[in-house]
Amino acid sequence: MVPSAMTPAEPPTPYAGGLTRVRVRVPAKINLALCVGPLGEDGYHRLGTVFHAVSLFDEVIATLAHPGDVRVTVKGEGAHLVDDATNLALRAARLLEVRYEFDEDPGVHLEVRKQIPVGGGMAGGSADGAAALLACSMLWDLDTSPDDLLDLASELGSDVPFALMGGSAIGRGRGTELVPMITRGTYHWVLAIAEEGLSTPVVFQRFDDLGAPGNTTIPPEVMEALTTGDVPGLGKGLRNDLQAAAIDLRPELGEVLESGMSAGALGGVVSGSGPTVAFLAGSESAAMDLSRALLEHRFIRETRRAVGPVPGARPYNCGS
Ligand code: C5P
Repeated sequence: MVPSAMTPAEPPTPYAGGLTRVRVRVPAKINLALCVGPLGEDGYHRLGTVFHAVSLFDEVIATLAHPGDVRVTVKGEGAHLVDDATNLALRAARLLEVRYEFDEDPGVHLEVRKQIPVGGGMAGGSADGAAALLACSMLWDLDTSPDDLLDLASELGSDVPFALMGGSAIGRGRGTELVPMITRGTYHWVLAIAEEGLSTPVVFQRFDDLGAPGNTTIPPEVMEALTTGDVPGLGKGLRNDLQAAAIDLRPELGEVLESGMSAGALGGVVSGSGPTVAFLAGSESAAMDLSRALLEHRFIRETRRAVGPVPGARPYNCGS
């Protein structure tokens, strides 16, 4: 007789949609312009930004689990640095759980496969939150419209709505009010990834400490270059008001920027709150040369090549 402890457990019962597994791929972002205005009463700075999704992806695989069994495992790039308490994929599942009505507490096992650096200024955690929102809403067969998802995303964090949307988009407010853009061309990026991440609130705080806030006007050169496909023009126009604060906290980033420019980049900018530096190259082969040159630099642990724009969080392999 087989002891009862060895009897395989009954699989969880799928919802009406019939899915038991949803896999979502979600991109990293860089900010082609990040214009930072004053700190608002809500504790966030007003922004004018141009988000741009690039082909460095995390994946979230959501598998249906028994009622009440909600957990996450993280694998890949910097997985050991992700803390369960702050994990946005887990927080996304919990947010849906409280916002929607369920007969029984829902269950899900989330597996996050990371390629986007943790604490790198490329919205990796936000990407995981966006992917988990989408995956769980499909798995649990929730009646979420795209607008509902964007609203829930903005509760999770300032960069989460853009991770759902992808492409290139203007961001206003604290970064959550988005207008998608039609752009021309494909842009080749080399991302210089630092040894250690930077904390976004610490960089914003340093920005405040360094003096007067700038304004939220997005440089017209950036808009024009993106909409006409002018790669050198975009290189020249890249702007990040947080860059000085990130360099103040990590002086070596100034040296990294200089070495990318002297190695032939058309432009370079700290990505978001850093410390990843994004360099624009004129072609795929120029990006390969630039990537090799940057790896010689003592402060660069790793480089990744990526193209943009790419779509936001998308389900691509779902099963019953
Ligand atoms: O929205 P999110 O949780 O990603 O923001 C992290 C932190 O970054 C905020 O607590 C705030 O300190 C800072 N931030 C800001 N202004 C923004 C976005 C983020 O000051 N527009």
